[in-house]
Amino acid sequence: GKGTYEYYMLKEIDEQPAVMRRLVATYTKDGAVQLPAALLKALAGASQLVIVAAGTSYHAGLVGRGLFESLAGIPTSVELASEYGYHQGLLTAKPFFIFLTQSGETADIRQVLVQVKAKGYPSLTITNVGSSTLAREADYALELHAGPEIAVASTKAYTAQVALQALVAKGLGVALGQPAATAFDVVHQLGLAAAGQQALIDQKSRLHELARDLFATTRNAFYIGRGTDYYISLEAALKLKEISYVQAEGFAAGELKHGTIALIEQDTPVVAIITDPATAAHTRSNAEEAAARGAKVLFIAARSEAEPSDQLIIPDIDPRLSPLLTIIPGQLLGYYTSYDRGYDVDKPRNLAKSVTVE
Ligand code: F6R
Repeated sequence: GKGTYEYYMLKEIDEQPAVMRRLVATYTKDGAVQLPAALLKALAGASQLVIVAAGTSYHAGLVGRGLFESLAGIPTSVELASEYGYHQGLLTAKPFFIFLTQSGETADIRQVLVQVKAKGYPSLTITNVGSSTLAREADYALELHAGPEIAVASTKAYTAQVALQALVAKGLGVALGQPAATAFDVVHQLGLAAAGQQALIDQKSRLHELARDLFATTRNAFYIGRGTDYYISLEAALKLKEISYVQAEGFAAGELKHGTIALIEQDTPVVAIITDPATAAHTRSNAEEAAARGAKVLFIAARSEAEPSDQLIIPDIDPRLSPLLTIIPGQLLGYYTSYDRGYDVDKPRNLAKSVTVE
């Protein structure tokens, strides 16, 4: 049940540090990742990985791609299930398919799974529901162990998907003898993630204030970032739009000037996510360009990249895992905006928890 919480969404946001720890407890032993041997062997034989997902799970897949490529050294693509069912690109000799799905029931993904099986390609479903259709029908399944997610807007399943992909990528990279995987201390990093998430969750009232300042009456909003900060921009914008009905766009910060900056007016809210040292300076200057055109900018920056005037500081972590932290303010800004506007946060209009039609 909801306990003392008014809405499941806030309860599920609060559960995320515990979910990180549960994943480490479930999938590692003495610092080493434990995966079924047959799964590891099938993954290690792949010439490419294809991650197929929808919505929030697709956004988790975008983060996963960077983990699989950097830790396991296997070319990886991320596909929207609803598109991939109809438009498949060329594949190399031994593709391996990963279906990312909280519910395990998404029809668009099932359609792809049927095609993949007909072609004899191996597959893994990563899901929160071990008894689901996609868990049963893929060759392999791994559970997110996030506990039931009741709120329609996905929160803890997203961070669980990112964390479990990090664990699988680490285990696979080690099995393949990749030095980058050996050097990546996934247990330590997920511990940092849990502690950092808790530190951000503890700033709820501050985030409520920021949500009020920025989004109380606006009709539109932008999140901008580059790399993983871009992927978080997509997910944070989805959180805001689906429960508060603010038209929110997540944007690659460098693309703004190629057209979309025309939409910036006096007081247009722009949230700049700045965690990646490789791109921090560029994203900051993109946000300053928006501010010069009247935008109200909220800077959310990693401690190591922050300026004294930035409004919210993100604890430092391996940049590949920063989404485990930056999504917390994204979730909470969406939650409080919806709450303050008087909406039923857990049951946004027009949406169902699992989408079982194509
Ligand atoms: C957004 C949300 C949806 C789902 C999408 C995929 O908060 O929940 O975008 O992520 O419908 O659902 P699953 O992961 O169950 O396949």
